[in-house]
Amino acid sequence: MKHFIHLKDISSTDLRKILTDAKKRKSLRKKLNTLDVDKNSPLRGKLLIQMFEKSSLRTRLSFNLAIKQLGGGTITLRSNELHLGQGGESLEDTAKILSTYGDGFMLRTDDDKKIDNFAKFSNIPVINGLSPSSHPTQILSDIFTVEELTKKNISKLNICWIGDSNNVLNSLIAASVKFKFNLNIGCPNNYLPNKAILNWAKKHNKFIKVNSDPKISIKDADVVFSDKVISLNDKVNVKKKLKDFKKYKITSSLFKYAKKKCIFLHCLPRGNEVDNKVFQSKNSHVWLQALNRVHVQKSILLFCFGKLR
Ligand code: CP
Ligand code: NVA
Repeated sequence: MKHFIHLKDISSTDLRKILTDAKKRKSLRKKLNTLDVDKNSPLRGKLLIQMFEKSSLRTRLSFNLAIKQLGGGTITLRSNELHLGQGGESLEDTAKILSTYGDGFMLRTDDDKKIDNFAKFSNIPVINGLSPSSHPTQILSDIFTVEELTKKNISKLNICWIGDSNNVLNSLIAASVKFKFNLNIGCPNNYLPNKAILNWAKKHNKFIKVNSDPKISIKDADVVFSDKVISLNDKVNVKKKLKDFKKYKITSSLFKYAKKKCIFLHCLPRGNEVDNKVFQSKNSHVWLQALNRVHVQKSILLFCFGKLR
């Protein structure tokens, strides 16, 4: 049994194995319906318990489909309907009960400590479905999408992030170490990436650059990643932050600095950080990006359940 909490804590070999399995499974499903089960139902009889403390569309649906396509089932808990958190039941007891009834636990939370504590007290794998400090399932799936579209190993590509220094970026920074790719980050000086993760990454990957001029960061990019300026956990002055990010909006004129065939990705939901022209252009692959989350979640589940070959 293995947890899937932060990319930086998972070996490059395991992450690559997950992507290879996802590629194989995706190609084998071409003629199958949404709810058809993969050959041999590798997770037959297994129950994934999911809990969302904040909103989700893609993560929720992709995990639902993923476990079902592997032959298992899922139940989604609403955090406000448990005894946990209202003082009635401890996290430790909740984790023990989840481990009694279920085989895996996927949590989206506002509190990184909570996910660590669930991992500590659970006897079943715990998956981070987004926390304030990372969004590992999203970024691993995005790497799959990049390699699928370019047919190249991501280590051969220039990857660029324009926008806020948030959970998704933290996972992208971790991925740049695990998959050894160039990462150029364009963000305002007062919104620099988390120091601890950047220092950790710079020790392992000399190819991370941060610049406050988005034109410099995007220059010659093969892939541009974007995300909302205001994240779910942001407790900020929204008006001020949006103003601070005005020049980081991905417009056609900024996008022109990237390579001609540059891929545009956005984990969604989107705000005002990208204009419609870029979002709807032929360079944008956001719908495939969202769909691929199903395929990669499946291989993440198999990894966690010790079934990845
Ligand atoms: N990208 C992503 O995680 O979307 P949801 O918040 O809808 O799950
Ligand atoms: N950074 C965003 C990602 C949403 C999928 C957030 O945390 O809200």
